[in-house]
Amino acid sequence: MTIQTIIEPFRIKTVEPLRMTTRGEREQILAKAGHNLFNVRAEDVLIDLLTDSGTSAMSARQWAGLIDGDESYAGARSFYRFEKAVKDLTGLKHIIPTHQGRAAEKILFTILGGPGKIIPNNTHFDTTRANIEVSGAEAADLPVKEALIPSLVKDFKGNMDIAGLERLLKQKGPEQVPLVMMTVTNNSCAGQPVSMGCIRRVSELCHSYGIPFFIDACRFAENAWFVKTREPGCRGRSVTQLAQEMFSYADGCIMSGKKDGLVNIGGFLAVNDDELARKARNILIVTEGFPTYGGLAGRDLEAFAQGLEEVVDEDYLRYRIRSIEYVVEKLDAAGVPVFKPAGGHAIYLDATSFLPHVPPHEFPGHALACALYIEGGIRSCEIGSVMFGKNDPRTGAFQPALLELVRLAIPRRVYTQSHMDYVVECVGEVFAKRDAIRGVRIIQEPPVLRHFTATFQPL
Ligand code: F0G
Repeated sequence: MTIQTIIEPFRIKTVEPLRMTTRGEREQILAKAGHNLFNVRAEDVLIDLLTDSGTSAMSARQWAGLIDGDESYAGARSFYRFEKAVKDLTGLKHIIPTHQGRAAEKILFTILGGPGKIIPNNTHFDTTRANIEVSGAEAADLPVKEALIPSLVKDFKGNMDIAGLERLLKQKGPEQVPLVMMTVTNNSCAGQPVSMGCIRRVSELCHSYGIPFFIDACRFAENAWFVKTREPGCRGRSVTQLAQEMFSYADGCIMSGKKDGLVNIGGFLAVNDDELARKARNILIVTEGFPTYGGLAGRDLEAFAQGLEEVVDEDYLRYRIRSIEYVVEKLDAAGVPVFKPAGGHAIYLDATSFLPHVPPHEFPGHALACALYIEGGIRSCEIGSVMFGKNDPRTGAFQPALLELVRLAIPRRVYTQSHMDYVVECVGEVFAKRDAIRGVRIIQEPPVLRHFTATFQPL
């Protein structure tokens, strides 16, 4: 018999203790936090699956890079190492570091957004959408129809609806559409990958209208792994080659290094257009820092460059993607409604099917996330009507999100298989008791990105 277990391709050198709490303590903690898991202290969480962003464990080489970082204000060696790593990967001309992804978004949409503009994406992430809307532009989501059916097993559910994009471009043209974006993997659609074919066709379509094509590249390596393992004709090519091909179709990209950069902070904007780069650097100097550090310390740039090299390691990606699939398989076997097939960085529970008795305006995803915390100290994140639902500005009518999901995002290189087995058991336990879970109502909320700070009350 051949050996089948895919192991973590690293061993652990430094450990952080986890603090156990009782159910009674967790009930009190959650009530004090206004029933919002963003308000809970991390030390009161046992398994923290709130996000895969900025939560990676760095390698010994990355930590060594922190000591080796060049902290010169201008022209630091660490910047040139970083710039080379990003150029080798993306082939793009101007590499502009930022302190994280949304800072790159802010700069890009300050220049290209504005009233009357519309910016399509397969699905915008919340900060991308917020930065577009803050500029006065409209953010348009164009997911494929299959993305809205959680139980449907199909490859590349993260793709963009190309026919829908073509209709939009025909109608609005380059006067109103300053760029088209593609998010890989599609975070707001359950971390589903985008195929190379789709990236290529969207790029060609954009260029036929003279519109620049940008990639939101936070999870480019995970996307490239899916392309390698699922797209016909790609198995024989390396993840690096596939990622390079993906970027070759783009005129620019933004990236939060807090995901596939394997760092705790960092991001960048990369573009080919000289004029756009000049404008971006001018804003950067005012808001982030000098163009060779852009809001980061030299040591951060060093760790980021190293992370970009490590993340394309195929033993790492095989383990990474398998670790998510492992949890999805176990939950699915237990009858728990889970988004299928497994995505790249997270497990997404389908709260609509999990809690059919809780209607969208009572926020089933939020209620489920709270129940998981009470049950096992697991912190997850609602990606549903708290995050994306709206009240119609004219009628006040509630408009729910397209899907009510709960995301269990898996930090990179942090948790082991037994942590995941514990998560599976806790979700199973909550599923067994699902009939007793009630919805929530919002007590107070801010005008934008309400999921971060709103407070709730169980019904
Ligand atoms: N784009 C995507 C697809 C993202 O997932 C994120 C962040 C950003 C942009 C913004 O990057 O956080 O560095 O400013 N996503 C995190 C998450 C927060 O939990 O999914 P950032």
